[in-house]
Amino acid sequence: MTATPSSNHRPLALARLVQYVLALAAGLLGIVLWAHGGETLSPGEQAVRYRHALYTAIAWNVGQMRVMLDGSHDFDQARFAAAAGHVAALSPLLTDAFPTDSNLPPKSAARAEVWRDWPDFERRLAKLTAAGESLAAAAAGSDRERVRSAFADLTANCKSCHERYKQDD
Ligand code: HEC
Repeated sequence: MTATPSSNHRPLALARLVQYVLALAAGLLGIVLWAHGGETLSPGEQAVRYRHALYTAIAWNVGQMRVMLDGSHDFDQARFAAAAGHVAALSPLLTDAFPTDSNLPPKSAARAEVWRDWPDFERRLAKLTAAGESLAAAAAGSDRERVRSAFADLTANCKSCHERYKQDD
């Protein structure tokens, strides 16, 4: 093959161009998948993510209330009541967040007992919702001791369920 310098150069330029196009396509595909909320995850993995997000949101609201009760932040009745209401509103969503195909350790810290003893687990979720509602009701009043005891009731639900159904707790 009689290659001139320019014809030697062309295949190289073409290879580069192909590389760029592939890189661009991969980047765009990544953005599309990301924008669609992780289509690369299996339905079970998506459920794990969903419940982690719910628990994170619940825990953040509990933390907001805790710092108002332990004195490290001023007690703001409206914010406290709103946080309690958010816990009550988010908790019922957890009942759909444990489909059977989402028993996926180690991505999930949920123990197999969640699915084996589902009626008990579901009852505990209902209790969590009720405890959030009681706390929201207490927070709407002016009896701070009632708020404290309703808050302790709420967090007792977290602890006892984790002891039984969550790894490493
Ligand atoms: C009915 C049982 C139950 C109750 C009640 C409960 N949890 Fe959990 N929680 C779990 C299980 C099971 C997991 C593990 C989920 C997983 O990894 O798939 C978990 C995980 C979590 C996580 C970790 C989320 C992550 O991203 O890994 C946090 C934070 C959390 N719970 C906070 C709370 C708080 C705060 C409360 C009380 C207001 C609470 N939970 C009440 C069962 C419960």
